[in-house]
Amino acid sequence: MANKLFDFGMIGLGVMGRNLLLNMADHGFQVIGFDKDPKKGALLESSATPGSIVKGVNTLAEMVKQLGTPRKIMMLVPAGKPVDDVINDLLPLLDKNDIVIDGGNSHYTDTLRRVAFLQEKDIHFMGVGISGGEHGARMGPSIMPGGDPAAYQSVKPIFEAVAAKVNKSACVAHLGKGAAGHYVKMVHNGIEYAIMQLISETYDLLHRGVGLNNDELYKVYKTWNEGELQSFLVEITKDIFLQEDSKTGNRLVDMILDKAGSKGTGKWTSQDAMDLGVPVPVIDMAVSMRDLSSYKEERVKAAALYKTTTVPIAVPREVFIQQVHDALYFSTIISYAQGLAMLHKASAELDMQVPLPEVVRIWRGGCIIRSSLLEVFYGAYQANAQLSNLLLDPAVAKMLQAKKQPIHHVIMHATQTGYPVAGLMAALSYFDAYRTEHLPTNLIQAQRDYFGAHTYQRIDESGVFHTEWGS
Ligand code: 6PG
Repeated sequence: MANKLFDFGMIGLGVMGRNLLLNMADHGFQVIGFDKDPKKGALLESSATPGSIVKGVNTLAEMVKQLGTPRKIMMLVPAGKPVDDVINDLLPLLDKNDIVIDGGNSHYTDTLRRVAFLQEKDIHFMGVGISGGEHGARMGPSIMPGGDPAAYQSVKPIFEAVAAKVNKSACVAHLGKGAAGHYVKMVHNGIEYAIMQLISETYDLLHRGVGLNNDELYKVYKTWNEGELQSFLVEITKDIFLQEDSKTGNRLVDMILDKAGSKGTGKWTSQDAMDLGVPVPVIDMAVSMRDLSSYKEERVKAAALYKTTTVPIAVPREVFIQQVHDALYFSTIISYAQGLAMLHKASAELDMQVPLPEVVRIWRGGCIIRSSLLEVFYGAYQANAQLSNLLLDPAVAKMLQAKKQPIHHVIMHATQTGYPVAGLMAALSYFDAYRTEHLPTNLIQAQRDYFGAHTYQRIDESGVFHTEWGS
């Protein structure tokens, strides 16, 4: 085998790993996969398109020895210890210059540690974010690789072949040094949390607020998805309203307990934003609201204590639906702006060299946060790759100005009638604060200096000042 048999190896043949390999095989690459569960290897082979070259094996060693060098091996295993375990098992089997790829949602600090550890052994380790779920992996995900640019060149043809395409361009690009790939994916997920929270708030306002039933909700989100709100998340939302529960015959959405789970990437985004000093309040609020939702028993008690009842929102339906549409549009833009502003700062602070125009380009297809808005943002970053905040782009400013009134109205009606709209409020507050020349933080500075001699700066003179307050 002139040192070449299989082009790509996968460790972990869960649905994501399997689908990604099958996608590669459909594009002419010869692929091999390993899973501790032999049934998964068999399932991989039986799911392959006839004529494609796909093999499942039961030991890591069998897989490694059948790969052409430098080997390209991806793992799709749960984040944390399983990744380190796989690395330890692989190490004795590898040769210099082999490429090991973590395609899961690992924390970027773990990725940085692993890059350094494997570099000492002349092995390339790449953190690669992959978005799009099961369907995306099979039909075309958005792929966010970071790390050694030379190693990326080896995997580039495979990634470009399998990635989603928008206007014939593949939704994959080298996104920077070190753990940049996992960092970008983390922020992608933070934005995902924010938009999902916002959509859920619009659902509440339309459902409990103005009484739309599931069929009506389907129609509203379908119309929205055909217009300026076109996006994957709005698209799947419309379908959710039609899904029947096989047990009861009710709509499934009505049978699902209102406690949201999470695997941590949204929280990581918020935590890291705090460390960087970048405000991402819609993402923070989305994480908090998922957390709050899990206190179901306390919420039930509180509902009884506060005698919470739902009051209809007294605005003509059609008028309110349009306002809610505009509020979602406005707050979705703010969510992307916060995530991208965070990436801008993180790129410099962590020396990752993240190309923001490329990030926005590859998010246009395949990933969970793909939306037609990204086309506008792509234009903004093409005009200015160093744009520190999307809100400073004139085209984006115009879009926000046009929806400012509606989001004010929606929040006013929601708060008057007691519907929680924390995400929408966080978006509007951020906007109002960001576009304000004068914030009341002069008072905070005065208070800090008063009780702690923390000093302040003046508006009329440079330097640092302290006052003996009250004397
Ligand atoms: C994607 C998703 C995916 C993520 C899930 C679940 O881009 O395909 O972001 O990677 O794991 O959305 O996330 P939570 O369980 O934290 O909601």
